[in-house]
Amino acid sequence: MAVGIFDSGLGGLTVYDAVSKRMPDLPLVYFGDSAHAPYGVRDADDIYNLTTAAVERLWDAGCDLVILACNTASAAALRRMQESWIPTDKRVLGVFVPLIEALTERQWGDNSPPKEVAVKSVALFATPATVSSRAFQRELAFRAIGVDVEAQACGGVVDAIEDGDMILADALVRSHVDALKRKLPKPDAAILGCTHYPMMEKEFQDALGADVKVFSQANLVAESLENYLERRPEMIGAGTESQFLTTGDPAKVSRGATQFLKRQVTFQKA
Ligand code: DGL
Repeated sequence: MAVGIFDSGLGGLTVYDAVSKRMPDLPLVYFGDSAHAPYGVRDADDIYNLTTAAVERLWDAGCDLVILACNTASAAALRRMQESWIPTDKRVLGVFVPLIEALTERQWGDNSPPKEVAVKSVALFATPATVSSRAFQRELAFRAIGVDVEAQACGGVVDAIEDGDMILADALVRSHVDALKRKLPKPDAAILGCTHYPMMEKEFQDALGADVKVFSQANLVAESLENYLERRPEMIGAGTESQFLTTGDPAKVSRGATQFLKRQVTFQKA
């Protein structure tokens, strides 16, 4: 057994990287559904079907706990999975809540009523499916009042990153930040609401300006996972085998992952 980390493609490696640095002895099975990326332009049923198939593959690889290191799947599929699909001895956790707890200055599991927080205006950068789900605004409303959220659907960025075209990804990030700034010229904070975007964090920060605090998920999710496993150590299981699985071309995906993680990574066909 091990902990599973799922994404539509390479983006979840930002979470994988933070988790493996924080808990180097924890066996991790990474699943990237690159054959079907990007998810962000798909409808909710499609995202649900792809996500449940991937999570089943992670159950088969011996994971009892799976992190959806994909905001699009967390936004479009997780609630439906939790309502009726996940077996009682398994767990699936999303990536939204740790981020919103950080933004709203809350400790893990603080379910007190929503209150005023320091941040008053937030720019949300995410995929089209995440933006149209309004899941971020819904989770935020449980915890904070009086926060103005302006969302920008960042079409094309995930595709460019999956293709390794960082020049295109850079140009798209700048144009999406410009579009956001036309709607909300001076946000207090910006959320990178897609796990691919931390790969472009510097470009987002440059385009937004140094006075905008950029929140990205990888470290927040790793911290929250460590906290969860301290309370639920039985969810780790006894296994030791870490592996990288992809539905895409293993050679191409391995090249992209090796470049990002700056160490040799070898994906196998899922
Ligand atoms: N990394 C995924 C996310 O966090 C990207 C989704 C996609 O494939 O469009 O939303």
